[in-house]
Order: sequence, then structure tokens, then C-alpha cells
Amino acid sequence: MRLRDTRPPFAGLANLSETALSALPTPCYLLDEAQLRRNGELLLGVQQRTGCKILLAQKAFSNFDLYPLLAPYLAGTEASGLYESRLGRETLPDKENHVFCAAYRADAFDELLHYADHIVFNSPRQLARFGPAAKAAGKSVGLRINPECSTQEGHAIYDPCAPGSRLGTTRAQWDAAVQADPALPGLLDGLHFHTLCEQDSDALALTLAAVEDRFGDLLPRIQWLNFGGGHHITRPGYDLPTLERCITETQTKYSVQVYLEPGEAWALNAGYLVTTVLDTLRNGDTSLAILDLSAACHTPDVIEMPYRPPLLNAGDPGERAVTFRLGGPTCLAGDVIGDYSFDAPLTEGDRLLFGDMAIYTTCKNNTFNGMPLPPIWTMDASGTCRELVKFGYEDFKMRVGNSKK
Ligand SMILES: Cc1ncc(COP(=O)(O)O)c(C=O)c1O
Repeated sequence: MRLRDTRPPFAGLANLSETALSALPTPCYLLDEAQLRRNGELLLGVQQRTGCKILLAQKAFSNFDLYPLLAPYLAGTEASGLYESRLGRETLPDKENHVFCAAYRADAFDELLHYADHIVFNSPRQLARFGPAAKAAGKSVGLRINPECSTQEGHAIYDPCAPGSRLGTTRAQWDAAVQADPALPGLLDGLHFHTLCEQDSDALALTLAAVEDRFGDLLPRIQWLNFGGGHHITRPGYDLPTLERCITETQTKYSVQVYLEPGEAWALNAGYLVTTVLDTLRNGDTSLAILDLSAACHTPDVIEMPYRPPLLNAGDPGERAVTFRLGGPTCLAGDVIGDYSFDAPLTEGDRLLFGDMAIYTTCKNNTFNGMPLPPIWTMDASGTCRELVKFGYEDFKMRVGNSKK
């Protein structure tokens, strides 16, 4: 049976009592263990039905205390560099450890060899420079390719296939490099592409066709092909049959092991951010609320991506009786989460709860303006909440100077 996911973003709150919610400090990230497990079950199903291996891209979710919970479902971790690779090795020592970095440093490469099993290079030059050492250490070596197939519209910063991209090797770059150094193909155990962002499997199918078109001659010579991340597999309505067809056809046709390395899909809709209204004001026709969380500090993707996080018991502007612009307490004029409507005007002390806050949040936040980092709590399947970690003044100070003096 295929698992179809129809959960709304707040489905996981069913067991959270009003009392438990009001006992949480704010702002506070709340990680939802049951929803993480549910994502894990969906991703395990794909692996069981197709034989592919799915890694956790730690850049999206690196709350390692929850890794044991995900361990039964994942084949390993994917890292963006030395520290994430080390975290994966320390916390999941028996799982595969893959790393891709746009450029490795000579002074960190030996240490990386202690942690990673699969090392993916971004350019033929880096492959030539570090590939032989990686192979001598028994590592599986790969190259990130750029199939030059853009399937994203509207946010070029997330499109590694955009013209002039620094990410991945184009066919022209590869041909020129091999002409200069014919030994390069002999270093390759696998290929890797990452071109998607929050996309469905139709975009993957298009990309795979471009990969075959440009790099098809290399595929029969390699052992693995990594489809990268950006597959929104656990999103309600995601087209699983097309994904699974892409995987099985590729594995059969080229005798390769297919890997996927999503980040978001593991922790989609598996976290919340609880906040309190500190003040309300009105400027002309605009009603505003200042929250105790900052978009710039605590949900940076809201500004960078940009996107509008789901908010419990709120609607789009004008949909409900009153509309408020929600912003943070920092000095940044653009520290705004968005405009939301409510049944009644917001007042000081009201609590709000944003959804889908487990990904690209705790691993990406910052202390701009001296903003405190929110504590991280967990919620188990019964709705019981526990503090995982809290931060204080020292966590701000140690990042801007020698706080031990
Ligand atoms: C190389 C690579 N792999 C995996 C991912 C994870 O992507 P996502 O969290 O969108 O699934 C990213 C995200 O940028 C990436 O750059």
C-alpha cells in the first residue's frame, strides 16, 4: 500500500493541551517527535519499495538529539562540510556519512577523511586535487554534475542550474577537464546532482532526462547516482509513484545505487515556534504586532527565501475580521513575518504558534541585535513537552569575542 500523506501543518498538535502550550516559555521551538516519525515512515517506505537509500541532509535539520528517533528510517547523513560530517559520525556512527562541499580546504581534508565515506567534489579541479587521497583512504568518490536544467521559477538563489552557477560541473567543463587530464574519469565511483527545491517528482523526471542527455555515457561506468535534495516527498499530495518510477528505472537501466538526500522532507511540518505578542500599534491603516520572536534571527528563511509560515488560527490578510502585520523586536525595518488575519484584535500577551518550524530554523538562527536564541523543546506522541536545551547571554557573547577573559 502506498502511504499518502494528507496532514495539515498543525495535525501534530492534536494531543497538545492548552495547559501544556501555555506552560511553554516564549519564544520557543517545539519539535514534534510523532510527526518526525511519520515522515521517517514515509521515507522508509520509498526505500523499501525501490531499494534506494535516503540520507538526512543535516543543513535543514541538525537537532542531533532526535537522530536516534530517525535512525530506523535513514540510511545515513549528508553533510555540507567538516562539522556536519563530524556530527553525523559522532551521533550515528554506524550509518553512511556523505559530504558535498563547493570547495574543500586542504587543511581540513585529512580530518574529513576520518568521518566521511562518500566524498562528492564540485569541480574537476577539486576532484583532481583531493580525489586520489580520498580513494587511497578507501572512500567512495563522486562529482556533482550540473545538468543545466532549471525547473524552478521565481527564486533563482535556490536554482543551482541558473546561468553562471558555481554549483556542479557542466558537460563542457567536464569535457575540457578530461581532455587536459584523462585520468579523471578513473577516480569516479559516483555522480551527484542537486537541482530541486521543495519540488514534486515531475521536476525530478525532467531533470533525470537532462542528466541522461548530458551525462548518459558516464552512467554505466559508475556505482551510484545521488539525486540530491529538494524532493518534498512528505508533503501532502506529493507524487510518490513518479518518484519511485524514476528511482527503479535508473537503478535497473544503469545498475547503480540511487541515493536521495532531502533535508526538508525529514522534518516537514514537524516543528512549531511559539511566540508572545509584546506590543500592538497602529500606523495609518496598518495594525501591527511586535512579537518576541524575530524573523531575521529565528526564522531567517522567511526573509531570505522568502516564504510565509503557517500560523495557527489565522488567515490570509482580510480573510478574518482583523488583519495584523507581525514583526520582530529588532531594529531591522524588514524584520516582518507577514500579514495575517484573526477573528479578534491581537493584544499584548497573546500567544501565537507558527507551523513547519523544524527545518532551516534552529540550525540557521543567529543573535543579531543581541536577540536571545529560543530554547528548543520536544513534544512526544502523548503531547508531553520537555526542554531539550536553552541558551543565554553567554551564547551571544561567545560568538562576538573572547568571552573567557
Ligand atoms: C547538495 C544539497 N543536498 C541536499 C539539500 C537538501 O535540500 P532540501 O532540504 O530542500 O531537501 C541541499 C539544500 O540546499 C543541497 O544543497
